[in-house]
Amino acid sequence: MSSNVRPETMERITTKALADAFIEEQIAAVRAQVGDKKVLLALSGGVDSSVVAALLIKAIGKQLVCVHVNHGLMRKGESEDVIKIFGQEMDANLIYVDATDRFLGLLAGVSDPETKRKIIGKEFIEVFAEEARKLEDVTFLAQGTIYPDILESVKAAEGKKAVKSHHNVGGLPEDLKFELVEPVKLLFKDEVRVVGEALGLPHAMVYRQPFPGPGLGVRCLGAITRDRLHALREADAILRDEFDKCGLAEKVWQYFIAVPDIKSVGVKDDSRYEGWPAIIRAVNTKDAMTATIEEIPYAVLHKIVARITAEVEGINRVLFDLTPKPTGTIEWE
Ligand code: XMP
Repeated sequence: MSSNVRPETMERITTKALADAFIEEQIAAVRAQVGDKKVLLALSGGVDSSVVAALLIKAIGKQLVCVHVNHGLMRKGESEDVIKIFGQEMDANLIYVDATDRFLGLLAGVSDPETKRKIIGKEFIEVFAEEARKLEDVTFLAQGTIYPDILESVKAAEGKKAVKSHHNVGGLPEDLKFELVEPVKLLFKDEVRVVGEALGLPHAMVYRQPFPGPGLGVRCLGAITRDRLHALREADAILRDEFDKCGLAEKVWQYFIAVPDIKSVGVKDDSRYEGWPAIIRAVNTKDAMTATIEEIPYAVLHKIVARITAEVEGINRVLFDLTPKPTGTIEWE
């Protein structure tokens, strides 16, 4: 599948049977393309890279080398899930790199959102390239490119302006030249999910809400500190847990916590307690260009507030962001 244009006759993949047929077709195509050579993949644990990994493990087994870079800005439990699902259950050839100290070191004191994005994107490529250089006989690079990415780059080439620099992985350095393997590049997101389930990936992974490449880095607002990042990660895990329990996780397109770099005066155990506010964002959208606010039952909000303020060190208030897009973007940075 080398063309970047989806044929009008291509049937939409909506059922397991159609997904199975697609998988068989791609397994044959990938085997024909790569032969006995090795294929490298940056496996973030997001839907697209996970589906590509599962597909390639099926097609070429240990010829696929997955590299998971933990930039220290993942959500709670995410890197552990990648190791468990791919490293253990699927027995993939997985290289795990904990680069937390490198990323947080470079980000220390940096408060401008676009500068933070650029540092994270550049360092990600650097860490990934270092791992790639250590390997021998790797000729191919697999990517979780999907059809909307191709349509986006066409728009970008036409000079349309973006509000934020959303690129996560730009080009690799000159010395690393690979041929691309992009088995899902003609699929829309809903089709990638159907294929992912047919490949046996967990429902929670395949239907995961979108998560930006710079991760919690653009939710720990301003200059990132380890203590505030930790508080954000814990508060976000509570929000996700409560949304899972009450069924909102299936209804809300994206939901998360942002923690700004401000403190307010509060009280805990009869003493003054200065802490950060945790801001809840829960939005619905079709294409992320505009977004509306999901109505969250008060009982759920009260539970979340009670848990976050009781369980998370450093947070003394919880706010709910009622701003649609526009004027607010979905992320705060
Ligand atoms: P905004 O904040 O622009 O977000 O309304 C729209 C969607 O894009 C995601 N987002 C990003 N995704 N890298 C990404 O991969 C980024 O730098 C980035 N910034 C925002 C955001 O989570 C939302 O789904």
